[in-house]
Amino acid sequence: MAQVTVTRRLQFNAAHRVHNPALSDEENRRLFGKCNHPNWHGHNYTLDVSVAGDIDPRTGYVLDLGHLKRIVETHVIDRVDHRNFNLDVDFMQGTIPTSENIVVAFWRVIAPLVAPARLTRLVLWETPNNYVEYEGR
Ligand code: NI
Repeated sequence: MAQVTVTRRLQFNAAHRVHNPALSDEENRRLFGKCNHPNWHGHNYTLDVSVAGDIDPRTGYVLDLGHLKRIVETHVIDRVDHRNFNLDVDFMQGTIPTSENIVVAFWRVIAPLVAPARLTRLVLWETPNNYVEYEGR
C-alpha cells in the first residue's frame, strides 16, 4: 500500500515573552534579547501539520484535509490564536514559550487525534525566516 504524507498549513497570531524565571533579569536579557521584553511582543505564526498513512481506497484520501484542519483548529489554534503563550495557554504553563517548546507541546496535543493516519512532522514558523521542525523524537 502506498504511504503518502499530506500537509495542512494553518496560521495564528500570539504573544509571548521568552523568559526563564530561574535566571536573573540580567541573564534573561543577555540570553533572550528583544524576546525578553517584559511587556510582551507578538508573532504571526505559521504551522504546517503533516500526517502520513495509507490511501483509503474508498475516498482516495490519507486523511481529509478539511478534517485535519478542524482537528488542529479546535485543539490548538483556537487555544492559542490572539492569546499570550505565557498567560493564556494551559498546555504551555511552566514552559519557556520558545518555538522549540511550542512545537513539542503542539505535537503532544495533535498526535493522538489524527488516527488512522499518524503525525509525522510539525513545522512552526515564527517569522518568514525562522522555523523549527519536530518529528516526535
Ligand atoms: Ni518572540
